Amino acid sequence: MSASILQVQGLHYTYPDGTLALRGLSTDIARGKKIALLGANGAGKSTFLLHLIGILKPFSGKILLHGEEVKYNRKALHNLRSKVGFVFQDPDTQLFSASVWQEVSFGPINLGLSKEEVKARVIKALDDTGITSLKDKPTHFLSYGQKKLVSIADILAMEPEVLIFDEPTASLDPRYTKHVMELLDQLNQSNITIIMATHCVDIAYGWADWVLVMKEGIITKEGTPEEIFTNDQLLISTNLSRPFLLEVFQELSSNNYLPRNISLPKKMADFKKILQENAPKNK
Ligand SMILES: Nc1ncnc2c1ncn2[C@@H]1O[C@H](COP(=O)(O)OP(=O)(O)O)[C@@H](O)[C@H]1O
Ligand SMILES: [Mg+2]
Repeated sequence: MSASILQVQGLHYTYPDGTLALRGLSTDIARGKKIALLGANGAGKSTFLLHLIGILKPFSGKILLHGEEVKYNRKALHNLRSKVGFVFQDPDTQLFSASVWQEVSFGPINLGLSKEEVKARVIKALDDTGITSLKDKPTHFLSYGQKKLVSIADILAMEPEVLIFDEPTASLDPRYTKHVMELLDQLNQSNITIIMATHCVDIAYGWADWVLVMKEGIITKEGTPEEIFTNDQLLISTNLSRPFLLEVFQELSSNNYLPRNISLPKKMADFKKILQENAPKNK
């Protein structure tokens, strides 16, 4: 992997009610990657991600940003959150301003930027997320999907180096899911490192270039999507299923409907191409 932007070393965290949520979690987050954080419900994904922006402080262990240990005073946290953005699973947790414009401008104002710079950033963030037409709307009148996009614009206006999404497509309809996933790709192309927690193996398989698998408060395995999703033992032990696309492809392959040497399709479009190229000749 390329140089790491965040290093996570031996995080332990217990909630006030005694739940042991992280049990020595370690990993390196490589710059510029699209990383899926995968794990069953309750594996500790959200708890881990909240540590990456300093909302939760580990009982032991540490996090390094650009090689420097994260501290928990106001100034250090302000610095951390200007570089690492977090999009909450539920937009209602994140949004609090009266209008969309006010909401998205809050972060840049808080960074102490000039009026012109704030305006330029808000315009760009609204444009990038495709919600310029909503700029004067009260946030509480928006649909769930629109709120999700506002919560993303909110964070984009901060121009972070790392963007963290906690289950970004949960509760979204197919159109919004597609829009959000395309947006994540676009952002990554502009060099933002993206970490996305999900329990959806289909989304993780098609999108990620690196996968972290969590189980009971640690990263139990990491690797390329191909390595992770062909490891049946790992999938069983972490309560994950095989991606649908892979399941169908392997079924066709092992029953000799497809030649054995074809590389695994990542997206539906790849799979359709394979099927077309290997269609039985018209009789
Ligand atoms: N605020 C909380 N108080 C007590 N326990 C919690 C709290 N939030 C999460 N947990 C517990 O911590 C563990 C990890 O939860 P979480 O990080 O939300 O997992 P995931 O995001 O993978 O579903 C679970 O056992 C969960 O019940
Ligand atoms: Mg969660």
